[in-house]
Amino acid sequence: MNTTTNVTDPMDLSETLEQLRQDARTRIAEAVDLDALGAIEAESVGRESPIAAARRSLGAMPADERRDAGRLINETAKEIEAVVADRRAALAAAERAAAIAAEAIDVTVDYAQLPSGRLHVIQQVMDEVCDIFVGLGYHIAEGPEAELGWYNFDALNTPPDHPGRLESDTMYLDYGEEADQMLLRSHTSPVQARYMEQHGPPVYIVAPGKAYRNDTVDATHLPVFHQIEGLAVDESIKFSDLKGTLAEFARQFFGAATRVRMRPHFFPFTEPSAELDVSCFNCDGGVSSCRVCKGVGWLEMLGCGMVDPHVFEAVGYDPETVTGFAFGMGVERLAMVRHGIDSIRHFVDNDVRFLNQFPG
Ligand code: PHE
Repeated sequence: MNTTTNVTDPMDLSETLEQLRQDARTRIAEAVDLDALGAIEAESVGRESPIAAARRSLGAMPADERRDAGRLINETAKEIEAVVADRRAALAAAERAAAIAAEAIDVTVDYAQLPSGRLHVIQQVMDEVCDIFVGLGYHIAEGPEAELGWYNFDALNTPPDHPGRLESDTMYLDYGEEADQMLLRSHTSPVQARYMEQHGPPVYIVAPGKAYRNDTVDATHLPVFHQIEGLAVDESIKFSDLKGTLAEFARQFFGAATRVRMRPHFFPFTEPSAELDVSCFNCDGGVSSCRVCKGVGWLEMLGCGMVDPHVFEAVGYDPETVTGFAFGMGVERLAMVRHGIDSIRHFVDNDVRFLNQFPG
């Protein structure tokens, strides 16, 4: 732009403005983005622009020419501003469209589908058993897997010379006086003692969790397995309550037609003690070729009994005012019987062809 033009000459001014308008139109059309457009706008109609210079020169003009010259300058400025506004709208729309295109997600594109995991069949069975007892009014309790000899044995009326305390049976973490020994709990029964020590009666709890024994792996043994402990303590709990509770559990878990029977047994922490059998859900008893019960008609399910008064004394309960029952069941055993699984090893082989058969 030739700013030395004599803009006080009307012919010169209109030519200058025409030139300016054309230049501005070309440059505005070529502006690649909003920043470039802003710079062109400032140079064309801003404070330092030839338009501003022309306005400032109006004062030096003869009065009769000043009006027309002023109008011409304003028209030119307005026109350039209108072209800028159009271009600005177009550039803004293009930038928005580009941003939207860049962020767009194509929902029809195929993607790599990761297989979803599921709960292990042992966890499923554990949850199901706990749900049944929660439905009967029980709470869930838990205890440590690394346990003191006191809770695993002594508080449960198990004398120091009991064979279960031998290293051939129980895995020790730290030796010492019997009660202070640290071991991996050999059953979930210590949760009974820990819970009663912390809570007064009445008690209605189930305690699911891992247990550890120094067993060699075979079709029915793993050194790490799962149990669910049950404990009910109240003012007048009777043996019939134990049987009725377990019968209800068996009906819910194995089917409404399930019957139960009890055989005398021994546990240090219950007196009397029993083992509970459930009628075979597959043949209902008496079919010699049954693959589930092998013709016996009954399936061994769990250990149970009335809480021994010595256990109440060990945890500070008064055996004269409360009675209770306890039971403990092996979760792997429940799962094997329920699903007809022939070896406990399947649970830890981590073969998805096995695990996928229990979608939960
Ligand atoms: N703790 C016993 C076991 O592991 C089971 C049991 C629990 C028996 C509670 C009676 C009462 O064999």
